[in-house]
Amino acid sequence: MPETVTLKLKEKNFEIPVISGTENEKALDIRKLRQESSYLTYDPGYGNTGACTSAVTYLDGEIGILRHRGIPIEQLAEKSSFLETSYLLIYGDLPTKSQLEKFKKTIAKQADLNKDFKNLFASYPKFASPMAVLVAMVSSLAAYYPDLAKSNPSKEDVDELAIQLLSKMPTICAYIYKTTLKNESFVEPRKDLDYVSNFLHLMFSSKKKEYPLNQEVVEALETLLILHADHEQNCSTSTVRMVGSSWADLFASISGGICALSGPLHGGANQEVMEMLEAIHADGGNIKKYVSKAKDPKSDFRLMGFGHRVYKNYDPRAKIIKRRVDDVLKKLGVQDPLLEIAWALEKVALEDSYFIERKLYPNVDFYSGIIYKAIGIPTNMFPVMFAMGRLPGWIAHWKEMKENPETKIGRPRQIYVGKNQRDYIPLDQRT
Ligand code: SDX
Repeated sequence: MPETVTLKLKEKNFEIPVISGTENEKALDIRKLRQESSYLTYDPGYGNTGACTSAVTYLDGEIGILRHRGIPIEQLAEKSSFLETSYLLIYGDLPTKSQLEKFKKTIAKQADLNKDFKNLFASYPKFASPMAVLVAMVSSLAAYYPDLAKSNPSKEDVDELAIQLLSKMPTICAYIYKTTLKNESFVEPRKDLDYVSNFLHLMFSSKKKEYPLNQEVVEALETLLILHADHEQNCSTSTVRMVGSSWADLFASISGGICALSGPLHGGANQEVMEMLEAIHADGGNIKKYVSKAKDPKSDFRLMGFGHRVYKNYDPRAKIIKRRVDDVLKKLGVQDPLLEIAWALEKVALEDSYFIERKLYPNVDFYSGIIYKAIGIPTNMFPVMFAMGRLPGWIAHWKEMKENPETKIGRPRQIYVGKNQRDYIPLDQRT
């Protein structure tokens, strides 16, 4: 007998089915509520609303658990590679040796961009926002690869879309850096390099000088990409699902996700954290001043990199990055005073009742920028790095959404609070 709860509304009882997840999460299945009771539910920001079922990622924000297809993020960060984790997210299991080799080779082969597509970069102004250009370039893929921009792609089409997006994303991101920030000519992808090394080559090699690859840098970036690969129904992933639910193609859905990610409250936070740490540094390290500003209800300043809708404990990804950052900087021979400031800021905040009461801890964005900076990636490219990392998660959720027979076009309701009916007033009678 399926589990139900009884809801009493206006002297009438309604039996509401309860659905349970594999980790025993419980949800009231209210799909019939409005039709049977005329009542809606109200949940701005969807903090209490399950929009779908999913098998991609499980997280428990109370105790700080994050698993991809059941595998803890700590193990993936230590033992996996970004492409292996991407395969796991998209296809549900870790690849065999031959599957992984084929996946890596196919992606390396497709890293080039169509010549006309490449010319698009030059049409953007220098110092344009890298995320604005990334949105435009990813949605433009539909114009240059129209045979893949299908509203109902086959399984083979989705496999090809995953390959094309994963292979071209590093090239697009690096070319955005080259044109908008460096004003340098492109170098071609190198098929002999692994995914992360090729990205670093595309970013930092020039026609005259090959970038000297450093294994520490490659490993640090590999870990950061793994840590950003997916995070359940966050704002950008929910946007990818919402856009895809109207049968928009995957390029359109991913560019919608990039738009959502660009916001300072979401993927733009890693850039905001760096700018905040720089401001504190420039202000003589006056941490207490910034902490009190963040606590002031009259100020809209927030401690960027702190707080999370789901984690009411330390973000497990932030824990991993914090453990690595000092070691990575030492291995790269980089001294960054902002790291000391970040550590001191975290200490002050975590001892302050405002943050303790609200369970505000460092999130994935708090320390990541210090490593990106040490690698030589400029601050306004940090959200682009987040998008590159999140791409396999977006693809996995879009694929899952398309394959789920329960999927319907996303169309939330509202509670109307506007004017009641009134008549049109001719222009000459309006005061
Ligand atoms: C990401 O969802 C995901 O999974 C996202 C992500 C992913 O991998 O996809 O994890 C990536 O986006 C991480 C978050 C990056 N954003 C930031 O670091 C920006 C700073 N953080 C906040 O703006 C905020 O914490 C959010 C946006 C992350 C979460 O906001 P919520 O859940 O809507 O919480 P809220 O705004 O309702 O805040 C609750 C209270 C408020 O105070 P009161 O009204 O109760 O007095 O906490 C306060 C807020 O003012 N608060 C903060 C704060 N975050 C929340 N106060 C100061 N500094 C902060 N950072």
